[in-house]
Amino acid sequence: MSHVIDATDLARHYSVSRGAFREPATVKALADATFTVKAGKTLAVVGESGCGKSTLARLITMIEPASAGKLMIDGVDVAREPAKLKDLRRTVQIVFQDPYGSLNPRQKVGSILEEPLIINTSLNAAARRAKALDMLRRVGLRPEHYARYPHMFSGGQRQRIAVARALMLEPKIIVLDEPVSALDVSIQAQILNLLADLQDEFGLTYLFISHDLSVVRFVADDVMVMYLGRPVEIAPVDDIFHRPQHPYTRALLSATPIADPERQRTKIKLEGELPSPFDPPAGCAFHPRCQYARDICREKPPALVAAGATQHACHGVAEGWVPDDGPKPA
Ligand SMILES: Nc1ncnc2c1ncn2[C@@H]1O[C@H](COP(=O)(O)OP(=O)(O)OP(=O)(O)O)[C@@H](O)[C@H]1O
Ligand code: SF4
Ligand SMILES: [Mg+2]
Repeated sequence: MSHVIDATDLARHYSVSRGAFREPATVKALADATFTVKAGKTLAVVGESGCGKSTLARLITMIEPASAGKLMIDGVDVAREPAKLKDLRRTVQIVFQDPYGSLNPRQKVGSILEEPLIINTSLNAAARRAKALDMLRRVGLRPEHYARYPHMFSGGQRQRIAVARALMLEPKIIVLDEPVSALDVSIQAQILNLLADLQDEFGLTYLFISHDLSVVRFVADDVMVMYLGRPVEIAPVDDIFHRPQHPYTRALLSATPIADPERQRTKIKLEGELPSPFDPPAGCAFHPRCQYARDICREKPPALVAAGATQHACHGVAEGWVPDDGPKPA
């Protein structure tokens, strides 16, 4: 199966002013991001606020260029093939968290849906209208919704409109940046089911950003756990929940009640504050909060290494001093 997203050592740095008398600081919002996503699959990206999830979303949607590393989208090297960028951008669409802020309140739904067609295609008005009406139906809305304004809809319905808009140009990849976080829990399940149905129907590939592990468990094929801008563990969803390796992944799971009701896991408490991204700790950035940290962790950044289907960036897991957690695969 082909990889529609293939990122190698992807990085994004921001220069941030610190006043007239100080040098600007560099924030490494994303670093060393190496991962792939197969066609038709969902990679969920999890981690605390500020760990670089939305930054990654902006690189994958090509809203911003990477500062370093290589990004292949649908087989095209994004930085090296600028002539293909316009077409490539159509193949990646994004849905944001806030269904209230992301739709223009002065535009009717029909015009919101048809706008990408006006900009990117030569379809005439009748064909655009037909396509918009068809998409409304596919996301569970009705023809009469075509002529209404966003404020006339509930949060869940607005997110359906945002999903319909993202689908208008027949993309291959949809980046979903916390798409259900702003919705009531009862509505979340409906939107997640809709996204799953649309993925099957159109063969879509999802990059699904969420801080909610119960949502991730429901939607993901693979999960990438990020900490301070770097992936620390990438694994199939069952391995993340049943055989988590990295102490940070395990701390995140320990903090969620849904983790694994069947057995007692070694609880790892997430202590201390998330360090400032301006001044990340040397070595493994997680070391000030890690109960297993040793000298090497304070000195040498751990690289992402493969162990079976899991990739982790942890000296202690690689060298066996972090105790194993969870049952072994049969
Ligand atoms: N345009 C920018 N200029 C400067 N710093 C930025 C910029 N965008 C993001 N950052 C910084 O990069 C880091 C990662 O931010 P990002 O928004 O990607 O995190 P996130 O994981 O999406 O967080 P959240 O869960 O709160 O949405 C943060 O420290 C943030 O302050
Ligand atoms: S590398 Fe060291 S500090 Fe970092 S998570 Fe692993 S054991 Fe903890
Ligand atoms: Mg974000």
